[in-house]
Amino acid sequence: MTENTPLHIAVLAAGKGTRMRSRLPKVLQPLAGRPLLGHVLERVGQLATAGIHVVVGHEQERVRSAFADAPQALNWIDQGEPRGTGHAVHRALASIPDHARVLVTYGDVPRIPVADLEACAAGTGVTVLAARVADPTGYGRLIRDAEGQLERIVEEKEAAASERAVDLINTGVLAAPAGALKAWLARCEPAAGGLREWYLTDVVSEARGDGARVEVVTSEEPAAVLGVNDRQQLAVQERLHQQEQAAAFMRAGLALADPARFDLRGTLTFGEDCELDVNVVLEGDVVLEDDVRIGPGCVLRDCHVARGTRIAAHSVLEGAWVGPEGRIGPFARLRPGARLEIGARVGNFVEVKNASLGAGAKANHLSYVGDAHVGAGANLGAGTITCNYDGANKHRTEIGEYAFIGSNTALVAPIRIGDHATVGAGSTLSDDVASGALALTRARARTIRDWPRPKKQQDPG
Ligand code: UD1
Ligand code: MG
Repeated sequence: MTENTPLHIAVLAAGKGTRMRSRLPKVLQPLAGRPLLGHVLERVGQLATAGIHVVVGHEQERVRSAFADAPQALNWIDQGEPRGTGHAVHRALASIPDHARVLVTYGDVPRIPVADLEACAAGTGVTVLAARVADPTGYGRLIRDAEGQLERIVEEKEAAASERAVDLINTGVLAAPAGALKAWLARCEPAAGGLREWYLTDVVSEARGDGARVEVVTSEEPAAVLGVNDRQQLAVQERLHQQEQAAAFMRAGLALADPARFDLRGTLTFGEDCELDVNVVLEGDVVLEDDVRIGPGCVLRDCHVARGTRIAAHSVLEGAWVGPEGRIGPFARLRPGARLEIGARVGNFVEVKNASLGAGAKANHLSYVGDAHVGAGANLGAGTITCNYDGANKHRTEIGEYAFIGSNTALVAPIRIGDHATVGAGSTLSDDVASGALALTRARARTIRDWPRPKKQQDPG
């Protein structure tokens, strides 16, 4: 490609993805929590392009709306009835000037290396991206002539037994001069069979017939260029993606107990000396400051965790902001709007939702803290429940600094418990408690001495 030749990219994403056996269009199937097509567009976006054209068909409204906020300008092209990869490219070429170079890639090849895209874009004739793989089943094979030049690409279902043995496969990525590609595609015949499908791969023979240069670029990363057609291939790509992420994080200083048991479906920012035990799942945007340790089986979604915090096994945090030196779990649940100030503690089977705990406040066991503020140094005994919902509306609970709430207490909101106030265990309160006061609702126990316990009657029969 000369410096003045504009590069246009066509991303093919119109297929149904029958082999996924899913109602979700294939290009919307998630890899690391993001649609396959999103991964492709992120990579494509790293090239200097004059236009990105996305060919859609099956459930296109759903596909388009999933990318309504895409950072790049996308030219959506309706393929109509999907009639093969050649037909899809022909449609895209209608919006691409003849003097451009066009790079075709697929919406179902999520980990396509940017270097491979660049290598194909840099060619002048027809450039096909190939990969040498151990198991070529299902892919188009590159058939070469006696001189070793690419002669044609044959699809698995049309390949002779000897051709099937070829381990050099077509990745689907192909670049060519737009005007010539248009002409070659117009000359291609539909493939044999009842479907009337046009194969993009057939342009290789047409280009050769015209004496055009046909070159093959072999990817250095064969595992990354493989398309996803079924759930097994999707799972393979998911693992590879996760392994790659884990390796990069470890190089950057993150301690992972087992990189094979770490999943990030979003973005992770971390400080120094953070440690993650096995089976931690991170989703959305997660920030870990220095010295954060996360125990096994924890799930964090869209959370900020400040320095020195420990999150013990099997805790689930979503939309939470955890201040420094926090102690969470095991088995804690922080829901959206949970905010913990320095040194706060949330123990086992405690749920916190839209509530803040001041510095050093504790809810160590079996509690629900919702729509509440708990003052610094306050202690919520086991079984403290903020009754925030009256069946129609939510109400707030305010607990003052250094308040002490006895175990098994129901605080019926709206309610305020003053600073340094004490609530006796087993109380149900719906009135405010003044600062420094003791409040309790408790029936006095009666004791009957030497009480004769009932005895089982003799069976008369
Ligand atoms: C295609 C290639 C095959 C290659 C393989 C790599 C052809 C004929 N075959 O086969 O050589 O080894 O990819 O993964 O090109 N699409 C459209 N419109 C259509 C048909 C497909 O947009 O009418 C899109 C699909 O959404 C998908 C991509 O093109 O993103 C590839 O289609 P797919 O059906 O997966 O082709 P393969 O059989 O995998
Ligand atoms: Mg495919």
